[in-house]
Amino acid sequence: MATITQAMELGSGEVTIRGWVHRERKSNQFAFLVVRDSTNIIQCIVEKEKISPQMWDDATKRATIEASVIITGIVRPEKRAPSGYEIAVSALEIVGDSHEFPITKDQSPEFLLDKRHLWLRSRKLSAIMKVRSTVMGAIHDYFRRNGYFEWNPPIFTPNACEGGATLFEVKYFNEKVYLTQSWQLYAEAAIFALEKIYCIAPCFRAERSKTSRHLAEFWMAEVEGAWLGLHDMTALAEGLITSIIAQVIAQNSDELAFLGQDIEKLRRITGPFHRMTYGEVLKFLKENDGMDIEFGKDLRTIEEDALMKHFDKPVIVTNYPKEIMAFYKPEDPQMPGTALCFDMLAPEGYGEIIGGSQRETDIGKLKEYLTKQGEKSENYEWYFDTRRYGSVPHAGFGMGVERIIAWICKLDNIKDAIPFPRTMLRKNP
Ligand code: 4AD
Ligand code: MG
Repeated sequence: MATITQAMELGSGEVTIRGWVHRERKSNQFAFLVVRDSTNIIQCIVEKEKISPQMWDDATKRATIEASVIITGIVRPEKRAPSGYEIAVSALEIVGDSHEFPITKDQSPEFLLDKRHLWLRSRKLSAIMKVRSTVMGAIHDYFRRNGYFEWNPPIFTPNACEGGATLFEVKYFNEKVYLTQSWQLYAEAAIFALEKIYCIAPCFRAERSKTSRHLAEFWMAEVEGAWLGLHDMTALAEGLITSIIAQVIAQNSDELAFLGQDIEKLRRITGPFHRMTYGEVLKFLKENDGMDIEFGKDLRTIEEDALMKHFDKPVIVTNYPKEIMAFYKPEDPQMPGTALCFDMLAPEGYGEIIGGSQRETDIGKLKEYLTKQGEKSENYEWYFDTRRYGSVPHAGFGMGVERIIAWICKLDNIKDAIPFPRTMLRKNP
């Protein structure tokens, strides 16, 4: 048994492959089956005169779209075939019939989402999922190479990390808990043991936005390090992005080409990325785009997109207004009124791909900001303990895995970056 790629590499002689019928076309004397497996597609020619009557019957009646098949024949180069090779079939076995596969040409995006369990087999989603696998591997490689331990947080949590508004509540025996929004508060406890840690884990946010950038369930790659500050984190984040892109280019050039991504453009995403403060962004937008944004307002999608029209690499924006930031982001003593925090924005309208900061170590200030943001600071006593016993400066960030994939794969919507997307309007299948 060979994979389709192995059969093509062999290029001549007899091979046996297995896979699914991707396309089919039949005439009186010939059946053309394009078969796919996880590696590629290949055209297979069945000639009536050259196989048994039973096999000809199967080839013409049962080898329908998505039927699973085992095929033996002679492989040879064929310029006109879709992947440059074809197999002259000597034996065909139908393993699983496929009666009227529901996905036909030109279906609406909503129909394809309803049939996601079947649409996963499409060449588009297969290409994206291969890139996703590379991205996941690249994240692990990068952090391990830099001395970070993988460390796993709980998913049921009693506290909010990123504000109560987007919490998913879950019945927990006779009480309630929430699905995690971020590993961060737990990671801040763990750095006192392992110092440098990372994870890739699912996160949940009851986002009421129906944008092409938001999922209710997404995966975040997060990192936290003791003795580190904001600028250590922006450098680490820059290295993470460039090393993910380098690995995807090295391993997935076929997939990127299939998805219509320009590999040369990706190759130019190298460090250093441009760094600006929030204040500089406001000035820049005023001068270049005539946008008047009041200091203290968060950057919205239109402002982020306007800024990023001027750049073809990610931009790191630091020092957002302290008042609108999560409770754990400390004030920058060098720039009062702003926080020691950053967002990394991707070009081409893909928005915020990373958010991170140094962490507040003063319990009084943590309490003050939790209260201001409507949380009960009593619920965070365990977290304050991390500041009571041998507190150290520390920092971290989180990268939205699907945001990176959407950008690298040039997707119209973040939903295609995850196998079974969950949004406000979609929880099935
Ligand atoms: O900026 P966020 O909310 O930061 C945190 O949660 C920090 N606690 C992370 C940390 O410092 N450890 O989220 C981080 C990233 C965003 O930049 C974005 O890429 C992604 O997570 N993200 C989402 N991706 C898809 N759908 C959503 N609803 C997302 N919300 C955040
Ligand atoms: Mg953010």
